[in-house]
Amino acid sequence: MRTAIVSDIHSNIPALDSVIARIDALGCDRVICCGDIVGYAAQPNEVVDKIKNIVTVAIRGNHDMALLDPREAETFNTYAREAVFWSRGVLTQENIEYLRTLRDQEQIDEIILAHGSLLDPNEYVFSPFQAAKSLEIAPCRISAIGHTHYPEVYRYEPSTGLCRDIIASEGELELEEGYRYLVNAGSVGQPRDGDWRAAFVIYDSEGSGKVEIHRVEYDVHSATERITEVGLPSMLADRLFEGR
Ligand SMILES: [Fe+2]
Repeated sequence: MRTAIVSDIHSNIPALDSVIARIDALGCDRVICCGDIVGYAAQPNEVVDKIKNIVTVAIRGNHDMALLDPREAETFNTYAREAVFWSRGVLTQENIEYLRTLRDQEQIDEIILAHGSLLDPNEYVFSPFQAAKSLEIAPCRISAIGHTHYPEVYRYEPSTGLCRDIIASEGELELEEGYRYLVNAGSVGQPRDGDWRAAFVIYDSEGSGKVEIHRVEYDVHSATERITEVGLPSMLADRLFEGR
């Protein structure tokens, strides 16, 4: 079973389209989504429409939450807050209702989906110490997250409590028995690790298992032109070119 894991699409439809094309080319049995479907970029309806059609299961992220409840945007920076309020104004009622159906966590077979961490949808996991906190309570082998917009994989050994950051950015990892893994899918629509290309992950359960982090070029000009056209802050367009 090959499961494609996407996260943090943030209303960037050119990035999502390129990722879906690559997922199709690589051959996957299903797609799951770790939240932040909307926010930041300028095509929220196109992205929600597509996500609804392609995913087996999705959860909500903090930007999806903020769109439904503006109090959640109080801690956002000005740009993020402005994009959430703009998105709320243009999303169809049907798409708002879809976001309302999403939960904080879901489990599908041996994969649990959460946005920030298993402890808190708003936690940014950037260290093995933080990853271990989630993995010590993980109910299954793979914990799939997003939120930081940095794709990476942590490995945790339940018998010793040791946790290591194994791969980041791009590449493949053969999994081993006796460990649990925290798999951050990175961001489709707004990568921040210095690489502007869209990120996603494939978890292949065949044999002892494998995780692949993929990067895909997309039409970043199309995404940024749309951001400018609708009058969202130019900073939200500029950062897409830099992957920051
Ligand atoms: Fe995000």
